[in-house]
Amino acid sequence: MTEKKRIFSGMQPTGFLTLGNYLGAMRNWVALQDEYDCIYSVVDLHSLTVRNEAKDLRERRMSLLAQYIACGINPEKNILFMQSHVSAHAELCWVLSCFTYMGELSRMTQFKEKASKQEDNINAGLFTYPVLMAADILLYQTDLVPVGDDQKQHLEIARDIAARFNGIYGDVFKVPEPYIPKVGARIMSLQDPTGKMSKSDENKNSYISLLDPPETIVRKFKRAVTDSEAVIRFDAENKPGISNLMSIYSSVTGKTLEQIQNDFEGRGYGDFKIAVGEAVAETLRPIQERYRELMASKDYLLDVMRKGAENASRIAGRTLAKVYRKTGLV
Ligand code: TRP
Repeated sequence: MTEKKRIFSGMQPTGFLTLGNYLGAMRNWVALQDEYDCIYSVVDLHSLTVRNEAKDLRERRMSLLAQYIACGINPEKNILFMQSHVSAHAELCWVLSCFTYMGELSRMTQFKEKASKQEDNINAGLFTYPVLMAADILLYQTDLVPVGDDQKQHLEIARDIAARFNGIYGDVFKVPEPYIPKVGARIMSLQDPTGKMSKSDENKNSYISLLDPPETIVRKFKRAVTDSEAVIRFDAENKPGISNLMSIYSSVTGKTLEQIQNDFEGRGYGDFKIAVGEAVAETLRPIQERYRELMASKDYLLDVMRKGAENASRIAGRTLAKVYRKTGLV
């Protein structure tokens, strides 16, 4: 029997996932769980780089765990855990920060972007965020990391740090590779289809939240920005709005873009938008039901968290012990 390759990924507990997070990331995580040994984390330590109310953060991390499970991640097959429950993350982060250069971190585009958005709170954690992310990944001797475009640079620095450390101390870390999904849906904003769908968008009509009720979903799709050509045809450059709706529809129904084009030939945008809205609502319905059940079963969620932390700690502890041994900390 060959060992399964290991996958690690995480999301910050920032609220409800959007349809973009679901179709672009979470659904892939679910698809990977049979073929790979998957470890998925709620990276709550990362969330402290912005100010939160303790009560909100506590709720959001529980909620994200429930969303993972509701979307189809099976806690029996994978390790699902809270980053802060495994102290090795913070410990390895410190060690790795001594092998990461200020210059490298200063080049991170996400740091520059975030720093410009929170000028009153450019904390050191925001700056060293990629080091914590490297620790997340490297602790588990991860083979593959499914990440979106915005995280590629962070994965790259994790690889550089791992290679640098290995160069000094021998093979301590596996150098992770990015996992590029076979079919990756990049879901765009419904109001400005040239930008990514994002829950930080001020305009709530621009994104679909995993927990939006069916009527809201249909309404948001009805209001989606399109073009004046009135032809349902995929052309991401000239018709970004319609093309985005077609990608979404294709993602949730499994139909190809061609099929969609044929099915809707001669029909108006209004009809199409309603069809997309209803198909999305139908896809999210069972997830929403499961989410509500899970949120009503706090004991179960706590149990998942505890087991996840135990299993993750065991693996992470081995790597951390090796790091301490190699660096002379024993
Ligand atoms: N930085 C990632 C994001 O904001 C979240 C993250 C933290 C992560 N640690 C990770 C993703 C490790 C993959 C692997 O999306």
